[in-house]
Amino acid sequence: MPELTDIVGGREIVVVANRLPVDRVVETDGTASWRTSPGGLVTAMEPVVRELGCLWVGWSGGADEDLPPFEAEGMRLVPVPLSGDDLEGYYEGFANGTLWPLYHDVIAQPGFHREWWESYERVNRRFAEVVAHEAPRDAIVWVHDYQLQLVPALLRALRPDLTIAFFLHIPFPARPLFAQLPWRREIVEGLLGADVVGFQREQDAASFRAAAERYADALAHGNLLRLSAEDDDPSRSVLAQEFPISIDADAFAALATRPEVRRRAEEIREELGNPRTVLLGVDRLDYTKGIRHRLKAFAELLDEGEVTVGEAALVQVASPSRERVAAYRRLREEVERTVGRINGEHGSIAHTPVVYLHQGFSREEMAALYLAADVLVVTALRDGMNLVAKEYVACRSDELGVLVLSEFTGAADELRRALLVNPHDIEGMKAAFLRAIHMPEKEQQRRMRGLRAVVQGNDVRHWAENFLRASSSMAEQRAAADTS
Ligand code: G6P
Repeated sequence: MPELTDIVGGREIVVVANRLPVDRVVETDGTASWRTSPGGLVTAMEPVVRELGCLWVGWSGGADEDLPPFEAEGMRLVPVPLSGDDLEGYYEGFANGTLWPLYHDVIAQPGFHREWWESYERVNRRFAEVVAHEAPRDAIVWVHDYQLQLVPALLRALRPDLTIAFFLHIPFPARPLFAQLPWRREIVEGLLGADVVGFQREQDAASFRAAAERYADALAHGNLLRLSAEDDDPSRSVLAQEFPISIDADAFAALATRPEVRRRAEEIREELGNPRTVLLGVDRLDYTKGIRHRLKAFAELLDEGEVTVGEAALVQVASPSRERVAAYRRLREEVERTVGRINGEHGSIAHTPVVYLHQGFSREEMAALYLAADVLVVTALRDGMNLVAKEYVACRSDELGVLVLSEFTGAADELRRALLVNPHDIEGMKAAFLRAIHMPEKEQQRRMRGLRAVVQGNDVRHWAENFLRASSSMAEQRAAADTS
């Protein structure tokens, strides 16, 4: 296996994301500690950054904290401060009230507010300035996700020596949806400041290339976008291509073989009253995840007597997320009302049909839950990738368990042996749940073996290798163009 640093020809790398991999938590007695940040971006990038030993620039999770660079869990972290106003305008506003719903097929209504946009611009500029100050000469700067789409162009203007790569962890919207954004040209130009722009799926990359042709006069040749010369900037090319992300499959597999994790998995089943089938959902509490649709399907199966309490239980982990954004607050109320109704109508003193946990858990506890679950249900209405599906598969070295997977996830492009569902089709989803519940072991094994081969064959190390190789080759082309 080549070293990642060799792939980039010894160039230094700086990772930039809205969040640092750890969040600063201040207890009521004033003591501060760090815990792993939420979301798939951090799960995927943490092992890569550890191996690279590079800097990670990002926000520490609190308001108005001006922290110096520090080391945590062997990583070198550079915090970017956000004020209360930045949180409102940039984070809760433009990032999660405009871009997040727009990029996820307008499942919720995006708000288009000029103050949010101004705040987004301001914070993107701050990130670019911090990176311009920290990045070693000729480094590759790897910018992540929808919160920082203006950083590539801002950074290029400040530090033309850098090679800039960008990866979008969420979908890029189809043209008619992207067209709604009043600042669509600025976003496209921001991204085109990069030398490589990576996406989860082929269709995301194609939608971006179409937007670049339309709003930035770029010319697409295959995956390359040709930009014409401007002022003091010579003409250049940007690679816009899919690089489907993954997880550290071996690390999850190793976690799941630990005796204490296996014991915990058995304990979980016992605590649930040893039902014949444990179904599991694991999501941030987000309206893109289709939690309401999943609960509706499960509730109807209970209503119709197709599933009986005590025989089957659904464990729903819904980790708290973006709790100050109105759409998330409404979702929480709805989900909790629905869970209460299902349990009230179908529960007994001994059995609870839906075990709802509005909490985050350690990786060990998650691995135990994956081992305890006969069926993992991923019913997202739209999802860039969905790493939970891959985590489940990586943990199941016993080759048992069934993955029910929404066709609207990036993961569905790769995990074809899952039971693929359209979460809007409640009848179809009910049929898939029943098929999963009753699937013979032989078929489970056949499917799980195929799924595991895919996840092991494209783990996050492989993804990083491909992405960095593409970035490095763009860096070499730039260097050659500069000397010619
Ligand atoms: C998704 C996004 C990440 C984000 C994470 C958690 O995975 O792609 O960029 O960090 O959700 O969301 P949060 O708003 O808490 O950072």
